[in-house]
Parts: sequence; structure tokens; C-alpha cells
Amino acid sequence: MREAPIGIFDSGYGGLTVLKEISRVLPEYDYIYLGDNARNPYGTRSFEAVYQFTLECVNKLFSMGCQLVILACNTASSKALRTIQQKDLPLIDPQRRVLGVIRPTAEVIGNYSKTRHIGVLGTPGTIKSKSYVLEISKFYPDLHVYQQACPMWVPLIENNEHLSPGADYFVQKYLDELLSQNANIDTVILGCTHYPLLLDKIHQFLPSTIQVISQGAIVAESLKDYLLRHPEIEERCSKSSAFRFLTTDLADTFNSNASIFFGKEVTSEIIIVA
Ligand code: DGL
Repeated sequence: MREAPIGIFDSGYGGLTVLKEISRVLPEYDYIYLGDNARNPYGTRSFEAVYQFTLECVNKLFSMGCQLVILACNTASSKALRTIQQKDLPLIDPQRRVLGVIRPTAEVIGNYSKTRHIGVLGTPGTIKSKSYVLEISKFYPDLHVYQQACPMWVPLIENNEHLSPGADYFVQKYLDELLSQNANIDTVILGCTHYPLLLDKIHQFLPSTIQVISQGAIVAESLKDYLLRHPEIEERCSKSSAFRFLTTDLADTFNSNASIFFGKEVTSEIIIVA
């Protein structure tokens, strides 16, 4: 059988927090991770730029045999996924699939909240798209959703400054801004795959009664379920537990930062996507 890994895409390192959980739940598959580090962050870019960059990366992963690609990036999921699914995929190859991370999160989030008031933290692009508000309202029309953009968090994390005392100011600032919107929020979604790295600091500045939801495990369970429901896709994915890591920027830098997100040593290759 030809190599057909599951493609995992992010603008940088954040998607590694998703790959970590997916490969824990589905260890038998092959995976290719692609981080577009050269053009990161996506969170402050226009719709057109995020769509174009994401499409180029998806095409690259398709050219490497992927039958299924997960956009493990909320910004790409909110700005590019729908157009790629509806406009591009039918022309590129209707048999292949591209899935995102917002819908799986929206599908389950209502199970977590008692007060029915939830917060979403994300990049400016994700928040501006209102994708979470729209998706959650389809599954849980009774939920009140409050959004907060956190433009400084990805740059702090990508530069490995997220644990420094200087990061505290921006962690507290955005959490305070979110909570000032409604005092009954009892559940907060980390709607950016970079943010789990800030989890300890986030807990430090949030009341202990508020639960914080990372997406990795949710997306992993959702993918497991998807593969069970779609044997025609599942049987086209190769299974030899192999990993390959690609970055559009310096491989050495990627290797040293990636292990923080993935929890294991990573050896990457540089590739050109455009
Ligand atoms: N990890 C991406 C997300 O989930 C955002 C990173 C970026 O701004 O490039 O939204």
C-alpha cells in the first residue's frame, strides 16, 4: 500500500498539542505534521492570506499522499476550512477530506457548562470570524458565548516567553477582559491550539470554579469517531505508526521548540510550500 499518512496542519507549533492527543488515541496511523512557521502567526492576517497559505499547505500534504488532513489550527479552521471543503476539494480530489477543530469542540462544549455561560479565547482572526458563536449555536442554542481575542499570546508562545514573568501581564489582561463580559462564565474554551502551553498561568489568574477546556483530547476523540463512521476514508490511511515533521522555516529551531508542544524529541525537515 502506498504511504498515506494523516496530515496535521498548523501555522506553527500549536497543532502539535493536537497531534500529541490524536497519536495517543490513534497510534496505529502514519502522520505528517506541517507547521507553516515561516508565515506564522496567522491570527492577525487577513481572510485572503490565511485561506491562500492554508490551501497551499493542504495541497502540499495531498502531494505527499495524505487522504485526510486536519487543520489543527483554529484560525485556519475558521477562515479557510469552509472554502477549501466547498470550493477547492471538489476540484482537487472529491475523495479526500479536510477537517477542522472548531466543530468537534462546539459539538461537546454544552456538556461542560452548568451556568450556560461560556467563554472563548482565540486569535483575533478566530474571534472576528465568530465561528465559535455560530457553530455552538447550532448544537446548543441555549448557551451564551462570550469571546475574547488574545493577540499577544501566540507571539509569546512562539518565542518561548510564555513562562516568563512578563507573560503574566497579558495572560491576566485578556482573562480579566473576558470575565468582565459576564460573571457567570463557568467554562472557558482555549480556542487556539497554542494556548494549552499557557494552561498553568491561565489557571493562576482564573477562579478555580471555572473549567478550562483544551481541544487536543476532544479533537482526537472526534477523529476516532469520524474514522469509525467513514470506513472508505479510514481504509485509505496507511498504518505503520510513522511520524514525519515538516516546517517551512528553520528545521533546527523547529526541533528545539517542537518538543515543548509535542512532549517528545522531534526531528523535522524544511520544505517550500509556495
Ligand atoms: N494555533 C493557531 C490557532 O489554533 C493560531 C496561531 C497563529 O496565530 O498563527 O488558531
